[in-house]
Amino acid sequence: MSLVVASQLEPAINEELARHPSRPKIIAVPEDEPWRAAREADVLVVRPTPVWREARGEEQPDLWPGRLRWVCSASVGIDFYPPWLLDAPIVSCARGTASEEIADYVIAAIYRQAKDLAEAAVTSPTQWRYRALGQVNGSTVGIVGFGAIGRAVARRATALGARVLAVRRSREAALGVIGVELRDHVADVVRDADHIVVAVPATPETRHLFDDALFARAKPGAHLINVARGSVVDQEALVRALDSGRLAFATLDVTEPEPLPEGHVLYTHANVRLTPHISSNYTLARGKLVAKIMGDLTRFAAGQKPSDIVLPERGY
Ligand SMILES: NC(=O)c1ccc[n+]([C@@H]2O[C@H](COP(=O)([O-])OP(=O)(O)OC[C@H]3O[C@@H](n4cnc5c(N)ncnc54)[C@H](OP(=O)(O)O)[C@@H]3O)[C@@H](O)[C@H]2O)c1
Repeated sequence: MSLVVASQLEPAINEELARHPSRPKIIAVPEDEPWRAAREADVLVVRPTPVWREARGEEQPDLWPGRLRWVCSASVGIDFYPPWLLDAPIVSCARGTASEEIADYVIAAIYRQAKDLAEAAVTSPTQWRYRALGQVNGSTVGIVGFGAIGRAVARRATALGARVLAVRRSREAALGVIGVELRDHVADVVRDADHIVVAVPATPETRHLFDDALFARAKPGAHLINVARGSVVDQEALVRALDSGRLAFATLDVTEPEPLPEGHVLYTHANVRLTPHISSNYTLARGKLVAKIMGDLTRFAAGQKPSDIVLPERGY
């Protein structure tokens, strides 16, 4: 019997999923209560719509996880979902589908900080004078969180001649990128980095990981780049670190909340560049997401586990 897949993804992707060789039956998900799909679906493909966030404070519905055998998240972070989502037999995430795009964004931010050609450009002979530029080769890039995004950043940064420091939660697995110095503590990375890249998941452990105490350890003039989640950074502490000059600049693709309310200081701070959670560049990452789900459907239909299973005890 073919799998019943309830999908919150766009119709064009659902049509592609329906063409999977296992010929799954794709059904719609109730927009207001997507968890109700648990009654009739084997697989639920979710994306972080506001209704999931609103359900975070609510009790687990009686019908959950119902018939579901697999919840497939189209995002890497599962922090948008209510904790009871993880009571499904298997929850997988989209790890790796946008990490190359996000790493490109990080490198763009590093070059913008080191070599601001727009700022250096001249429009008349009177402006023709020497101006010092910063460096990328010879700089130190510190990566906090060494998963799919952290490793993609490290591959690029080492190739550009930067020294790369990294920290991760565990130390069990091989590093996977040659030339990276793995440190034991976040502060050991932050202390020596010119560019600090935040690439950890939002978990209770990482909430406000970047606080006054950690910013006080940063190298004066450091550049913070957050492509992970707004909650990892205490935004008030960030503003204090920028105002005191401890940090020279912050490039933020994520904030808490999103969007920030009208008039929030991070919109207009002279030393902040804020982008609206676009570093994953969905237009390009979409194809990789579809390919990943198709591959996982093949595995699942053959009785195997999908890739990148979320571990409830870790929260990612
Ligand atoms: N801006 C965006 O559009 C966007 C897109 C995708 C993802 N994200 C966010 O970025 C996060 C990272 O993505 P990813 O694909 O790189 O995830 P990932 O492959 O799961 O990597 C997460 C990394 O963080 C490390 N980590 C977890 N808790 C830590 C802690 N307390 N201290 C230090 N390191 C810790 C993990 O350590 P181990 O290696 O030991 O497990 C792992 O190396 C996601 O969880 C998501 O929230 C944002």
